[in-house]
Amino acid sequence: MSKGLKLKYLKITLIFFLNAFIFGVETAGAKGIMLLTPDYDSILYARMPTTHLVVEVQAKETLESLLLRSRAGEVEPFVTRMNNDAYYVHYRVSLVPGKNEFVLSPGGQHIVIDYKPLRTLFDADLDAPDVYLYHRQGIMHKQCRSCHEFNVVPKGNYTKSSPYGSRSPICYSCHKGIFEEVKWQHSPAANLLCEMCHREGKDGAISVFIGKNAVLCYQCHLIKGKPWGDMAHIHAPVGYGVCSICHNPHGDKYRFQLWADARGELCVSCHEDMAVLLEKNTKGIKVHGIVKGGGCVTCHDPHASDNAYMLYKPINQLCTGCHNDFAEVTQGHPVVGHPVSGPSNPLYPGEEFSCASCHDPHGSKFEHLLIGDLLSGHFCIKCHDKRAP
Ligand code: HEC
Ligand code: HEC
Ligand code: HEC
Ligand code: HEC
Ligand code: HEC
Ligand code: HEC
Ligand code: HEC
Ligand code: HEC
Ligand code: HEC
Ligand code: HEC
Repeated sequence: MSKGLKLKYLKITLIFFLNAFIFGVETAGAKGIMLLTPDYDSILYARMPTTHLVVEVQAKETLESLLLRSRAGEVEPFVTRMNNDAYYVHYRVSLVPGKNEFVLSPGGQHIVIDYKPLRTLFDADLDAPDVYLYHRQGIMHKQCRSCHEFNVVPKGNYTKSSPYGSRSPICYSCHKGIFEEVKWQHSPAANLLCEMCHREGKDGAISVFIGKNAVLCYQCHLIKGKPWGDMAHIHAPVGYGVCSICHNPHGDKYRFQLWADARGELCVSCHEDMAVLLEKNTKGIKVHGIVKGGGCVTCHDPHASDNAYMLYKPINQLCTGCHNDFAEVTQGHPVVGHPVSGPSNPLYPGEEFSCASCHDPHGSKFEHLLIGDLLSGHFCIKCHDKRAP
């Protein structure tokens, strides 16, 4: 026995005992039941925590005793249709991150779906063993095509009539969930122009556009004015071209098809050290009023800008835009004669001296969002040694 085979045998034995332990022993290998999708043992990368199990059943008696169980209990099929004397039982299941176990009876066939939730397929290793891609089987199983045929939507299926490509309803009949269940739909997906972005590969398989999908987006989105790529400061994920890390290409909960609120939640999903700013209990940090109100995108452009830190305006213009009392101030704050701008910040030479040199624009433990404690004298000495000024 080869090492691989031994491992496989061990795995099957283990699964059997696990199965027996959780669900009770049943006679394995019922005739006339076949799982068509997914595989018995598969890794599934996806944004949405749901997938479909489609089972082919040959005889009516078997159909009557057919039962799919998850840890939570029995799963009800949502549609069963007959074709060429076989029944096609469809289940829609929700998944939790990690292993999801199902048992299909009679026969006690064990199905394990290892769900790996992802914001983007960008860093998914789709070529790893056991990774399940339905459309890798060719454009789709032969059996499925008997009902889900090109141009033909399954009988009894509700469909939107689309003025666009004649092939589009084919995707819709199986995938309506990806945009119907979301609030902000992306126009080309909602208009069933799936094939604008997913092309059939040479082998007939439908491609998932992973990696740098900006190329895809720029086909239709001509950025007004100066292209982001030509700007002095480009946000790293945009520079990388991974638009889908923030925008769901089909649609999502928040405006602009974002999966999280751009006022904060979206940003701190990566800028984790800033998550404290959004918490109810900010642990002694006084958050800048506007971070709570308008959020991160009041000051930062999420894509690119000619100003440092992708700010919409140079720092002092940005601040004085709201704090108008300071609009004309070039010096005299906080003490007589003190400048509020200059070529170099003594704390970080190489950076400009600005309002943000003394005030943390996000939040601070100290009064007035200062970078140090004014009263204890620890503020001025950050830039001026004890003898001066
Ligand atoms: C604007 C381009 C675009 C359109 C239009 C589009 N898709 Fe996608 N789709 C993508 C990209 C890009 C990905 C991979 C995204 C990622 O994860 O990085 C993707 C991923 C998917 C996935 C994988 C699961 C997921 O959500 O991550 C499915 C399924 C899918 N698309 C189906 C469809 C269907 C069906 C339609 C038509 C209703 C459609 N797509 C229209 C760009 C598009
Ligand atoms: C017969 C039903 C069916 C049809 C028709 C169909 N798909 Fe799928 N597709 C699936 C299933 C099942 C999955 C696996 C995920 C799931 O269970 O939802 C899947 C997954 C995908 C994925 C993720 C990658 C993969 O291969 O698993 C993409 C992208 C996708 N479909 C795009 C499309 C597009 C675009 C069309 C239309 C040209 C289409 N699909 C038509 C059933 C279908
Ligand atoms: C005998 C006909 C028939 C066959 C064969 C068939 N389906 Fe379906 N399928 C349907 C019908 C009818 C619906 C629509 C149900 C509805 O609109 O509620 C459907 C809906 C679906 C959906 C949409 C689920 C959802 O969440 O709305 C998926 C996914 C799907 N089928 C996948 C498959 C796959 C994969 C195969 C092959 C392994 C397959 N079907 C074979 C008839 C069939
Ligand atoms: C096939 C053409 C097409 C492709 C490809 C495309 N889009 Fe779109 N997109 C549109 C259309 C049409 C609209 C709706 C019209 C509008 O509001 O500008 C839209 C709207 C949007 C919006 C909302 C704009 C607003 O002002 O409300 C965002 C965000 C967006 N797309 C992002 C993307 C991203 C990210 C990609 C790449 C994954 C992409 N689009 C690829 C055609 C496309
Ligand atoms: C870091 C997250 C992030 C990434 C990556 C990202 N965006 Fe955005 N995008 C946003 C946010 C947030 C908004 C909404 C801005 C607002 O609320 O003012 C937005 C808005 C948009 C809009 C509509 C408003 C506008 O500026 O025209 C388009 C179109 C768009 N993005 C396209 C893209 C494209 C194309 C890419 C990839 C090159 C991309 N985005 C990458 C976060 C992102
Ligand atoms: C997908 C992850 C991701 C998301 C989401 C994200 N960022 Fe970033 N951001 C990065 C990375 C990576 C860098 C570069 C970090 C570095 O160089 O240390 C960066 C850098 C920055 C910088 C510093 C830029 C500079 O020139 O030094 C700012 C400001 C910023 N992000 C703001 C935001 C805002 C505002 C949002 C929400 C709209 C956001 N980010 C969402 C990944 C992300
Ligand atoms: C009042 C305007 C304003 C708001 C609102 C704002 N920022 Fe900033 N941010 C700035 C300024 C100004 C800088 C550069 C000055 C500095 O802190 O050194 C900056 C710098 C940054 C940097 C790079 C330097 C660092 O401190 O790591 C990141 C990342 C960043 N901001 C993320 C965010 C996030 C995330 C949010 C929302 C929770 C946010 N910003 C809200 C003004 C703002
Ligand atoms: C979009 C409007 C807006 C922008 C831009 C803005 N702020 Fe504010 N700022 C506010 C609001 C709202 C508050 C909370 C109300 C208040 O305390 O006055 C606040 C509060 C403050 C406070 C606290 C006042 C106190 O007495 O504790 C300081 C200091 C401050 N901002 C400095 C800045 C600096 C420095 C910048 C530029 C990096 C800036 N602000 C940019 C709106 C803004
Ligand atoms: C050299 C450090 C320093 C610089 C630069 C600076 N501040 Fe201040 N700021 C302070 C100190 C110290 C206080 C608290 C003492 C006080 O109330 O005058 C303060 C207080 C404030 C306050 C709250 C009290 C008030 O007067 O409303 C605001 C708002 C403020 N600054 C905004 C700004 C803006 C906008 C800029 C840029 C134009 C700026 N600061 C530049 C040190 C600075
Ligand atoms: C973030 C750095 C920073 C902090 C904090 C800071 N200063 Fe300054 N200060 C500067 C810079 C930059 C200048 C102008 C260049 C120089 O003279 O070194 C300056 C200049 C001065 C001057 C000379 C002004 C003139 O008339 O030429 C005085 C006085 C002064 N600071 C006092 C203070 C006091 C008092 C505090 C605390 C309330 C303080 N500074 C906090 C950076 C800072």
